[in-house]
Amino acid sequence: MLFDSHTHLNNEGFTEEQRRALMEEIEASDVSYVMDVGFDLESSQLAVKHAGENPWCYAAVGYHPHDTKDMDDMVLELIRGLAKKDKVQAIGEIGLDFFYDHSDRETQRYWFRRQIQLANELKMPIAIHSRDADQETLDILKEEGAFSKERQSWFPKRKGPGGEELPDSRVLLHCFSGSKELAKQYIKLGATLSICGPVTFKNNRRTQDVVREIPIEFLLVETDAPYLTPEPFRGKKNKSPYVEYTARKVAELKGISYEEAARITCENAKAFYGIR
Ligand code: NI
Repeated sequence: MLFDSHTHLNNEGFTEEQRRALMEEIEASDVSYVMDVGFDLESSQLAVKHAGENPWCYAAVGYHPHDTKDMDDMVLELIRGLAKKDKVQAIGEIGLDFFYDHSDRETQRYWFRRQIQLANELKMPIAIHSRDADQETLDILKEEGAFSKERQSWFPKRKGPGGEELPDSRVLLHCFSGSKELAKQYIKLGATLSICGPVTFKNNRRTQDVVREIPIEFLLVETDAPYLTPEPFRGKKNKSPYVEYTARKVAELKGISYEEAARITCENAKAFYGIR
């Protein structure tokens, strides 16, 4: 039982045939659920289509910071329409990417804010992409009320190991690669962190420390396929079944069994996305 909490079956590099083969492979694997995450209009539409066709697939819709240069009010309206469709569980991936700067920073900030506002309006979970923009991502999320008490009141509470209630603002930091200090700041605000393939790299002490320090109730696992392939397949194209290797690493770092890590992160992802 695994939940690949962030993947791209909608990647534009796939032919229909490759995509079908990939879906069959997912069906035959231990992966019970995947979240197909949009990054522009076309990929968001595709994610919704995939969710409609496959019982194990759900969708997130939104504009990646790279693509915000193509956004306007009309496109935002189309995203709003998609967000209301069946099995669309989140707005994402949205955020800031000051590493590549494919869209200029003002444009990225503007549409990041507008899409958080959309998620608040629709009372939906948010999936964040942040690269080389740690402080500003956090600041904008705070300013737009992404961690507000009001927002937290819209969702069922997160449960701790003893059944106690923990904060949950339904904000997911996808492929979290920040420090453990930043991770601690985020979970205090009720955010959730998703761990991806690079945690398996030998020299990635930073993310391994995050997994050791942060309670498992706040962690999900993902592939971000076709990118960020975990060991032992590093260098090959990534795919959802490889989420197993990230879950195995989380288990090792937490000192629990793989089965337990797989089950808990799957339950966490279902709760985060509001899937029963
Ligand atoms: Ni992604």
